[in-house]
Amino acid sequence: MSSETYTPGHTTNATNFMGKRTLESHGGFFTSCLSEGIDILDLGCGPGTISLGLAKAVGSGCVVGIDFGESQIDKAVQNASEAGIANVEFHVGSCYELPFEDRSFDGVFSHALMEHLKDPVAALKEAWRVLRPGGKIGICSPDADGWLLSPPSRELSEAVNSYASLQESNGGDLRIGKRFGLLLQEAGFQNIQLSARYECYPSLEFIGEYLALQLEQKERIREAQTFRDWSKSDGGMFAQAWVSAIGTKVGQESNDNG
Ligand SMILES: C[S@@+](CC[C@H](N)C(=O)[O-])C[C@H]1O[C@@H](n2cnc3c(N)ncnc32)[C@H](O)[C@@H]1O
Repeated sequence: MSSETYTPGHTTNATNFMGKRTLESHGGFFTSCLSEGIDILDLGCGPGTISLGLAKAVGSGCVVGIDFGESQIDKAVQNASEAGIANVEFHVGSCYELPFEDRSFDGVFSHALMEHLKDPVAALKEAWRVLRPGGKIGICSPDADGWLLSPPSRELSEAVNSYASLQESNGGDLRIGKRFGLLLQEAGFQNIQLSARYECYPSLEFIGEYLALQLEQKERIREAQTFRDWSKSDGGMFAQAWVSAIGTKVGQESNDNG
């Protein structure tokens, strides 16, 4: 799976975009699964700002963040050091080949990763492997079928479709959210609970530039300009549709996932 292309790339723009997220702002769906002393793996942790919230929530437990972007891990280590949080560590690694023994964690958290993967079920099975029996997974991704953008126009719809097709051409799926129940089930999880929410981006220029830059890099200049023009409109809106799912690894200590 090393051939995967991560659509946003590890640009400063994309890293800053992720770096505004916190457990409170984006991980609320998983907080009921967190308690003092448990160990959590954060898959695709990016610059680690959500991981820091997870670390505070587990107290004497430990949080490990994994990301295949070296620059993201460097930034995450810096963020943890600046925040003075010691019960968190970050490592470069692939979500398809986790460098951990079976049954190493009480929880696996993954925010905004699944939509970028060619084989999300393989990643979820790997998460299942490193979870202890009774452990929970919490995943959250967008579903572009739920996006609300205004003011609407044909050009804007085309730009949205172009962005989704760019991600698809890299093996991802910007409409993955609605499939979470099926994917978790296929990976072996049980007691699946699904939820969804909207996030209204406070700055249209911020999200518009984030999308435009990625389109521009692939020479989709017209669609990039559409996002930039739209992002200057007064009274406009971008409501992101997030789907979250929690699943449980039910089983005895000796169970395997085969
Ligand atoms: C959209 S960012 C999300 C970062 C963070 N979880 C958040 O929500 O702010 C997705 C992250 O997943 C990482 N990623 C993508 N594919 C990966 C893979 N196959 N293995 C490990 N990390 C991966 C990217 O490098 C990126 O940092």
